[in-house]
Amino acid sequence: MSATDEQQAQLQRRELQLTEEVLRSFDGTPSPRVRELLSSLVSHLHAFAREVRLTDAEWEHAIDFLTRTGQITDERRQEFILLSDVLGLSMLTIAINAPQDPSATEPTVFGPFFVRDAPTIEYGGDAAQGASGEPCWVHGQVADTAGRAVPGAEIEVWEADDDGFYDVQYDDGRTAGRARMIADNEGRYGFWSVKPAPYPIPGDGPVGELLDATRRSPMRPAHIHFMVAAPGHRTVVTHVFADDSAHLDDDAVFGVKRSLIHTFERHDPGPGPAGRELDGPWWELRFDVRLAPAGI
Ligand code: BEZ
Ligand code: FE
Repeated sequence: MSATDEQQAQLQRRELQLTEEVLRSFDGTPSPRVRELLSSLVSHLHAFAREVRLTDAEWEHAIDFLTRTGQITDERRQEFILLSDVLGLSMLTIAINAPQDPSATEPTVFGPFFVRDAPTIEYGGDAAQGASGEPCWVHGQVADTAGRAVPGAEIEVWEADDDGFYDVQYDDGRTAGRARMIADNEGRYGFWSVKPAPYPIPGDGPVGELLDATRRSPMRPAHIHFMVAAPGHRTVVTHVFADDSAHLDDDAVFGVKRSLIHTFERHDPGPGPAGRELDGPWWELRFDVRLAPAGI
């Protein structure tokens, strides 16, 4: 072995020794899980830095990126979750923790636009509350994975208007395109809203820079968010995607699953469900939800 080879080998040994030293520093961690998480994180971080031969400038850039990600985050904006979303970490975590039963409705990303205490509406009520877009009747049944109705299930829905904005992205304090409802005795629900449209995720922060730098689209395909909960069942957080939407194949946050893509049926003007008279075209979506039992 030449002197330079020997020096190289020594440098490599030092790099690995450093990793070992940091791992040993966790030996006294009381919680085995915290120790496992930190040890694995450090192992992978160090392996990454060694593999790409991380430069000082790149390390500084990463620190600056994460600092700005924190600085832009507040109660209305969660840039760290957005970062996790565009790196696919959110969907990976969801996949790891999803119920194994294939008959349960599949989960997908929560997203940053859920708001607690949305208005409660009755069967046939209006979730749009002035959100722009063509009217859409959304209905279905909540059942368990054996097909038994789940009466009284709590259903939260939220969606962007057809300009691609959620109500909370406007400065006027409006509440629109969101509602909470309770499934009836047969687990059924039904509400009016608007046909969803594709929209971009917020792109004016560090995550937007990352998407620009990698020439990635910020767009999400048209969808309606659902969160459905009932005692004795696992809460599901999911969306319904419109099968005629653009961006089903390049969702910025990797949230699309085949089972969640549904057809919105177009209807001509005239009488519609829940006593509505429609003077323009309207749409209908049927979405049945299957809840897995709690604790699996
Ligand atoms: C959303 O669908 O609301 C969403 C999800 C992830 C990131 C940004 C937006
Ligand atoms: Fe969304």
